[in-house]
Amino acid sequence: MRVAMIGTGYVGLVSGACFADFGHEVTCIDKDAGKIARLEDNIMPIYEPGLDTLVANNVKAGRLKFATGPAEAVAAADAVFIAVGTPSRRGDGHADLSYVYAVAEEIAHLVQGFTVVVTKSTVPVGTGDEIEAIIAKLRPDADVAVVSNPEFLREGAAINDFKRPDRVVVGIEDERARAVMTELYRPLNLNETPILFTGRRTSELIKYAANAFLAMKITFINEMADLCEAVGADVQQVARGIGLDNRIGSKFLHAGPGYGGSCFPKDTLALVRTAVTAGSPVRLIETTVEVNSARKKAMAAKIVAAMGGDVAGKTIGVLGLTFKPNTDDMRDAPSLDIVPALIAAGAKVQAYDPQGHEAKTMLADVDMKDGAYEACEGADALVILTEWDQFRALDLDRVKELMKGVALIDLRNVYRPAELKGRGFEYTSIGRRS
Ligand code: UDX
Repeated sequence: MRVAMIGTGYVGLVSGACFADFGHEVTCIDKDAGKIARLEDNIMPIYEPGLDTLVANNVKAGRLKFATGPAEAVAAADAVFIAVGTPSRRGDGHADLSYVYAVAEEIAHLVQGFTVVVTKSTVPVGTGDEIEAIIAKLRPDADVAVVSNPEFLREGAAINDFKRPDRVVVGIEDERARAVMTELYRPLNLNETPILFTGRRTSELIKYAANAFLAMKITFINEMADLCEAVGADVQQVARGIGLDNRIGSKFLHAGPGYGGSCFPKDTLALVRTAVTAGSPVRLIETTVEVNSARKKAMAAKIVAAMGGDVAGKTIGVLGLTFKPNTDDMRDAPSLDIVPALIAAGAKVQAYDPQGHEAKTMLADVDMKDGAYEACEGADALVILTEWDQFRALDLDRVKELMKGVALIDLRNVYRPAELKGRGFEYTSIGRRS
């Protein structure tokens, strides 16, 4: 099949490269000429394990191409994917659909023959209807079927998530699209991945419902963690104790500093707005949004308390700044709330992140170090903020020797309290007795 993928962000680039790897002929399109030139030189715009090799292999095999304009690829395509950003609209939290609609207008003029137009971007319920209307208005003769096909991949595990998903969701209103979408995902069909065909609006809502549920699940265990601290229980055992119940499941019950990233914060907010507009508010998700943003702020106070209540003039070493490991993404990272609050309280922050190049500009007042141990040097306290693998197996004796103080605040529960205490640290973690 011939695929035009418009937008080479996380979702577009990973999906395009994976479809090419499935054997389809894919053109990834982006207006940013610099980005396309770099991709042609196999320089990735994001850090995602395995992506550079996947792209290089498929370019070499002639199945993956890049272009700055959609004209040629869209005219030839069996399926055109819209994978441009849908950020939170400033002020009201609604998803900003201006990029999606601009692409719809652009492709309306270019499609030839029967073409399936697919939204891969996360878009609010009814966006597919609007895209259909835009195309019909500009090109009444165009023969298109507009489909919703949300993407559930996680950053840092994106290729595996695309190729071995729990399910594929496809929302269609025109039966002809079913065959095209089935053919596109044929390799997954052979693996017996469930492909769930639904109506288009239902599919659009499934994506938001999935992300909102996961965000709520994390927020639930985070509140349990606070309660554990208050009553002397252990949140990790609570998570295991409830997670072994198949109806609950053990995943996404890891307590931490609050969720961040490019999806959960934006999508929960957009769902809240959609629901309010539809006159059917989702109060659980409204509360999730509030609790999570309060939590990220509360983490700075937790660190200050662990350091005796005053951090003025103190040096704090921070390990990990990205919103989670294996990504360079800083969007809505808890570090963006926590680190400035520590600096405002008078602390000097020195930090290390294996992919923290963006953090350098976003957290300009931080002294960025070149390695984990450099971030420990002379520190009164050490904070583990993102659980990169290399922070899970630190040489703790060396850490202790390098530090000035003994406070270790582990916001990801990477270490065991008894072990750290045995080594002479004053250890604070999430939802466990120190
Ligand atoms: C998420 C969804 O998982 C994915 O299906 C969707 O397509 C996009 O949004 P992503 O944002 O890449 O993916 O990361 P994810 O691994 O889900 O983590 C999101 C946030 O939740 C991170 O800040 C992470 O630290 C936090 N988290 C996750 C927890 O605090 N505890 C957990 O148990 C799991």
